[in-house]
Amino acid sequence: MAEFKIAPSILSADFARLGEEVDNVLASGADIVHFDVMDNHYVPNLTIGPLVCDALVKHGVTHEIDVHLMVKPVDRIIPDFAKAGATFITFHPEASEHIDRTLQLIKAEGCKAGLVFNPATPLSLAEHVLDKVDRILLMSVNPGFGGQSFIPHTLEKLREARKMIDESGYDIDLEVDGGVNVKNIREIAEAGARTFVAGSAVFGAANANDPHDYETVIAALRAELAQAKT
Ligand code: DX5
Ligand code: ZN
Repeated sequence: MAEFKIAPSILSADFARLGEEVDNVLASGADIVHFDVMDNHYVPNLTIGPLVCDALVKHGVTHEIDVHLMVKPVDRIIPDFAKAGATFITFHPEASEHIDRTLQLIKAEGCKAGLVFNPATPLSLAEHVLDKVDRILLMSVNPGFGGQSFIPHTLEKLREARKMIDESGYDIDLEVDGGVNVKNIREIAEAGARTFVAGSAVFGAANANDPHDYETVIAALRAELAQAKT
């Protein structure tokens, strides 16, 4: 069976208690901290920056921090996130004037690099830079907000991306972001995804006894993944 990773998006966490929320979600079995950076320019929302990433690292987070940049321009902020402890930095090709250069910059800063594809952005943009890409992230919603519904066409695009990655021979992760939940994660895995961002499905899963116990929902996501035919 393929290896699957669950990456809760802290966009849906309680920001007033962020360190505790991240600790809880990781202790509950999450693999990766998905860190959504929005600038009220490339996307119509404003979130968190390098200071918050740095604070999480200082708080003691040692798991992968997957920084998803929804900012334009993108190059200026990359060294700041590298210094702040980002493991992965992914960006949208539309936000960079020079995609190859931005990928090189991320690598030179010591991070892994990824390209993010909006629902309407063609995968062909990755074709000539696959040797520099560690992760392809397909947006299954339009970026900017948590809690939106999964766009079904993403399944077809995931199959296309899976094929492109497998044929390339490179070790490239395939991640999906937006509207992932217990009901649809299995078919998303079967379409080829290996890393699953889930914001509202994880942080919105309140347990009556302990509203910050995320074990139940993460176990349910994993149980679905265990049944996926890949
Ligand atoms: C959307 C963000 C996502 C978002 C996912 O622009 O990139 O990471 O938080 O949230 P859900 O899982 O609620 O769709
Ligand atoms: Zn994201």
